[in-house]
Amino acid sequence: MRLHLNENTAGCSPAVLEALRALGRGDAGFYPDYDTAQSAVARHLGVPVDHVLLTNGLDEGILAAAAAACRDHSAGVPEALGVAPAFDMYEVSTNAIGGRMVTVPLNDELELSAGDIRAALTPRTRIVFLANPHNPSGRAIPLDTLRGLARDVAPALLFADEAYADFSGETLIDPATLAALPNLVVGRTFSKAYGIAGLRAGVVVGTPATLEPLRQVVPPYSLNAWAAAALPIAIEDRPYRDWYLAQAAESRALLADACTRLGVRTWPSAANFILVRVGNASIVVNELAARGVRVRDRSAEAGCEQCIRITAGIVEDTRRAIVALEEVLCAAR
Ligand SMILES: Cc1ncc(COP(=O)(O)O)c(C=O)c1O
Repeated sequence: MRLHLNENTAGCSPAVLEALRALGRGDAGFYPDYDTAQSAVARHLGVPVDHVLLTNGLDEGILAAAAAACRDHSAGVPEALGVAPAFDMYEVSTNAIGGRMVTVPLNDELELSAGDIRAALTPRTRIVFLANPHNPSGRAIPLDTLRGLARDVAPALLFADEAYADFSGETLIDPATLAALPNLVVGRTFSKAYGIAGLRAGVVVGTPATLEPLRQVVPPYSLNAWAAAALPIAIEDRPYRDWYLAQAAESRALLADACTRLGVRTWPSAANFILVRVGNASIVVNELAARGVRVRDRSAEAGCEQCIRITAGIVEDTRRAIVALEEVLCAAR
């Protein structure tokens, strides 16, 4: 059971697979056309088509934003700002383009302090990365806090990473917010709720002027033809997505209950995973793996000491994972 990367543990919608099977020699042989996929994504997010930039997974969107924001080194090494712990690609991407990642620690509740972010701004801050819901805790950030921060960090970009927003149901994406906050870029992925992580499809959303520097970074055929063909079908299959969101919500509640029963610390999650303070994380990860359950060891990160992260996927998997977790934690005692 892959409960370590927060994918859709049921896989993609059967309709997506059918559409992929229908692709032919020309689809493989010719450069992809993005018109249908772009319109489907824009319609789905409720923004004009010029507000979306499709990327090879949201990872590429993060890299493109870091590259666009940190390209000017004339005033010294440009900085990206974020929190710790956080999704590691913010730092990886910033380092890759010669910038410097600055982080502020979260408190014990793993809540964001907007004041700490403001205090860490310097004249070299070019971009601020914040995930909502936060990874690895799953904690939600109030949208008003993010809107306020977007104003306060300008002219730096605020990159609001909404990889897990399908699960929380909260988003900053609407044309009025984007127009009012020209330094706001929102990232979304189709790897999680839509189950196409293997195909690689993400999107960054902003006003046309805000996206322009990112468009200059993303190569013209970044998504392959299979991802472009799958996107509109994945988006259209609302019943499949809604079924999966319900499974993930039920799994999250089951995992939280199990952790309470076992007396281990968790944090309220709005995403499709839960962070759990288990004690010796590497032993627990190995023991779970021996029982066929892969979870993620996050214990090396500041703020996540002794923690593992478990994906809340389909309920059947979750029930089996809970049995394994109970065995492992009880044996450790
Ligand atoms: C917070 C966050 N942002 C972005 C991504 C990248 O998603 P993608 O698969 O679209 O590259 C992930 C994937 O785990 C994530 O957790």
